[in-house]
Amino acid sequence: MSVDFNKVPPPCYVIDEALLRNNFELIKQVKDAASVDILVAFKAFANWGVFPIFKEYGFGASASSLNEARLAFEELGVRAHTYSPAYEEKTISDLLKYSSHISFNSINQLQKYSKVASQKGVSIGLRVNPEFSDSPHDIYNPCKPGSRFGITAERLGNTLPQEVEGLHFHTLFEADSFALEKLLAVFIKKFGRFLPKLKWVNMGGGHLITKKGYDINHLIKILTDFRNTYGIKVMLEPGSAFTYQTGYLISTVLDIVENNGIKTAILDVSFTCHMPDCLEMPYKPVILGATDELAGKPTYRMGGNSCLAGDYMGNWSFEKELHPGDKIIFDDMIHYTTVKTTMFNGINHPPIGIWSDKSGFRLIKEFNYQDYKNRL
Ligand SMILES: Cc1ncc(COP(=O)(O)O)c(C=O)c1O
Repeated sequence: MSVDFNKVPPPCYVIDEALLRNNFELIKQVKDAASVDILVAFKAFANWGVFPIFKEYGFGASASSLNEARLAFEELGVRAHTYSPAYEEKTISDLLKYSSHISFNSINQLQKYSKVASQKGVSIGLRVNPEFSDSPHDIYNPCKPGSRFGITAERLGNTLPQEVEGLHFHTLFEADSFALEKLLAVFIKKFGRFLPKLKWVNMGGGHLITKKGYDINHLIKILTDFRNTYGIKVMLEPGSAFTYQTGYLISTVLDIVENNGIKTAILDVSFTCHMPDCLEMPYKPVILGATDELAGKPTYRMGGNSCLAGDYMGNWSFEKELHPGDKIIFDDMIHYTTVKTTMFNGINHPPIGIWSDKSGFRLIKEFNYQDYKNRL
């Protein structure tokens, strides 16, 4: 069975619990077989209403701010592995309270905060930049020349500050295990000399372990080989992989307008407010029951309900003409959506819920005027 869209009131983000659990099983399989820690990167998904499900699988958490670290502590019951390009004096003490590991982005930051981190028993790491990424999108490439992320091998030189217990890198984007294998070869060449002295390596995110065709056995092998060679603890901190293809954004057509032969279905949701990656990256999402533009079929742009002229995407073809009241269901709208949404134009945020094959639809979070007002 899967989500019964007639039983979910639109607009709504709906997570399919069965799909979520399929992803978690696969990730847990890697964690157990390779004896590595796998941390959920909260930046991709932080709907704590479903954390009880995460808890069943024993995943850790990776945080990029005090708020994320605190949420990990309060709602997932774990101390976070924290990384931010720079920390602030006014929040570092709280951040350390909620963190088990902290990675610094520069030697300056390390020198500024390593003493207080050590005093609080937090393991200290340094983010390195291997200057290798397979990301085809500049916006998701932390290794572009001039990048602000991580210290390069050349700048680091031959000595690692003695308080450093681990290295952290994040360079991949929706990558397979073969990209990680290539990255590890570069990492070892540039930073391998430090590994015998260290306790851990955090291999960042970008591992799309749950994508169809991902070679899990190959990943397990390279992680196990790495661990055995260096006798070191290994962590991965994927975000997308946990909630990849686990749910939908259900919307309704409010009106159809036409200009210069282009028909636009105006929706009760917005790309800029509710699906921002579609415009930022950009990419065209899948709509259930629709195809890319096909000659001879009713074809529409989808228009967001905001004032931004660019708040639209196109084009999709449908079997039948669209009318106000028709449902438009966007696929794969769980990761990097609800963590990035806005209330631009005061547009109400779609509720968030979860579908269980056993018990049906359960609302996790609704939004109202007070949410809009309190933000401002
Ligand atoms: C430091 C770091 N770790 C983990 C992630 C998660 O990456 P993904 O969601 O692609 O797996 C990101 C994404 O930007 C990141 O910057």
